[in-house]
Amino acid sequence: MSEKLAKLTLGGETYDFPVLSGTVGPDVIDIRSLYSKTGLFTYDPGFTSTAACDSAITYIDGDKGELLYRGYPIDQLAEKSSYLEVCYLLLYGELPTAAELEDFGNRVTRHTMVHEQMHYFYRGFRRDAHPMAIVTGVVGAMAAFYHDSTDINDPVQREIASIRMIAKLPTIAAMAYKYSVGQPFVYPRNDLDYASNFLHMCFAVPAEEYKVDPVIAKAMDRIFTLHADHEQNASTSTVRLSGSSDANPFACIAAGVACLWGPAHGGANEAALNMLRQIGSVDRIPEFIARAKDKEDPFRLMGFGHRVYKNYDPRAAVMQESAREVLSLLGVENNPTLQVAQELEKIALEDQYFVDRKLYPNVDFYSGIILDAIGFPTSMFTAIFAVSRTVGWIAQWKEMIGDPQKKIGRPRQLYNGATNRDYVDIRQR
Ligand code: SDX
Repeated sequence: MSEKLAKLTLGGETYDFPVLSGTVGPDVIDIRSLYSKTGLFTYDPGFTSTAACDSAITYIDGDKGELLYRGYPIDQLAEKSSYLEVCYLLLYGELPTAAELEDFGNRVTRHTMVHEQMHYFYRGFRRDAHPMAIVTGVVGAMAAFYHDSTDINDPVQREIASIRMIAKLPTIAAMAYKYSVGQPFVYPRNDLDYASNFLHMCFAVPAEEYKVDPVIAKAMDRIFTLHADHEQNASTSTVRLSGSSDANPFACIAAGVACLWGPAHGGANEAALNMLRQIGSVDRIPEFIARAKDKEDPFRLMGFGHRVYKNYDPRAAVMQESAREVLSLLGVENNPTLQVAQELEKIALEDQYFVDRKLYPNVDFYSGIILDAIGFPTSMFTAIFAVSRTVGWIAQWKEMIGDPQKKIGRPRQLYNGATNRDYVDIRQR
C-alpha cells in the first residue's frame, strides 16, 4: 500500500511527511524531520495534538468513552478480573494462565515487606505530613536500598524492580497512613490477597484481630483495577521522560507520584470529595455550578472534565455503581455526599456550558465517596491512586526502555525573551 503523506507548503516550498497508522485510533504525522527540513518547530503546549510515543498497552477513545487495557474493555476487567491479573496483563501483554497468575502472585507477595531501615524515614516526617509527601520521598529512597535492581540495562534487574514497586507501594502507602494516625505499622501478610492485604495494613491494630470484609476488599480491588493505567497522562509522561535519561526505576516512579499529586490530575479525587462536602446539600449546587462557569472564579468542578474523554469516563460509570454497592452494604445508602454528587452530575450534564465543552464526570468524581465510606481520610485518596497506577507507570516505563527508538526526551520552545545584549555595570543601571 502506498505510503500516506502529509504535505506542508511553506515559503513556496512543499515538504512531505509520512502519515503513520496504529491498529486503532488517530493516524499521526511523523514530523521527526520537520526541523532538519524546514528549520521550524511544532508548537503544542499541553500536548493537545501530540503523540509522544507509540505504545501497545492502553487505548482510549475519548469520543466513545472507551478504555482498553491490552485490548480488553475496562468494564469487563472490572467485573471479571482482579487487580493482580490486570497487573500481569499490563506488564506482559496477555491474560495469564492459572499457573502464570499463581507464580506472579507469589513473586509479588514475597516482595511486600520494605527494608526495616525504611521505618526510620517515617519518623523524620511530621505526623501531619501529607501521605503523598511521604510516598514521594520513600519511593525515591527505594533506590538507596535496592541497589541490585537499579541497572536499567539489565532485564533481570528491571523485572525485580518492577515486582518490588508493585509489591511495596501498598506497604509504603499504608505505613504513611498509620504514621499519620499515630498507630504502629502493620506488616503485610502472605495469606491475604493484594487488596485485603492493603486494607489489613491500613486498618488492623495489634489490640485485636481485623477481619477484612470481602465486599469492601472487592471494591478496593476494583478501584485499583480502574486506576491501573491510562495511556500517556501527565504522570505517565513524567515517568517516560524521567526514564528517557536512564534514571533508575525508583526515581522514575517517584517522579510519577509527584506529578500525580496535582489537583488537576490524581489529586482531583481528594479535591472532589472536599468540594462535595463544601457544597454540602443539594440546594447549594446552583451556586457552585455558577462559580464553575464564571471565568473570573478559579473554581472548577473537581472530578469533572478530561483532556481525552469527551464522553462519560467509563471508569466513572463503574465507580458510581461500586459506590452504591459499598454504601448500601455499610447501610449508608442515603449518604448525603453521594446524593449531592448524583444531583450535581444530573444538573451539570443538562447545563449548556458543560454540554458545549463535553464535560463529564471522570474517574475522580465518585472514587472519593467509596474511599471515604471505607474509612480512608481524603489525604489518602491520591496515595491510593498512586498504589494502583504504579503498575501502569512501570509497564509504560518498561515499554519505553525496551523501545529500539528510545531517545532522551528533549522538547524545544518558542522563545520570546530578551535577544542578545551586553552586560551593564551596576553603576550604569
Ligand atoms: C485525571 O489524562 C488522564 O488520563 C488523567 C487521568 C488518568 O487516569 O491518568 O484520567 C486522571 O487526572 C482525571 C482528571 C482529574 N482532574 C479534575 O477532575 C480537575 C478538574 N478538571 C479540569 O481541571 C480539566 O477538565 C482537566 C484538567 C481534567 C482537563 O483540562 P483540559 O483538557 O486542558 O481542558 P481545559 O482546561 O482547556 O478546559 C476546556 C474548557 C475550559 O473552558 P473555556 O476556556 O473553553 O471556556 O472547559 C472548562 C475550561 O474552563 N473546564 C471546566 C472544567 N474542566 C474544564 N470548567 C469547569 N469545571 C471543570 N472541571
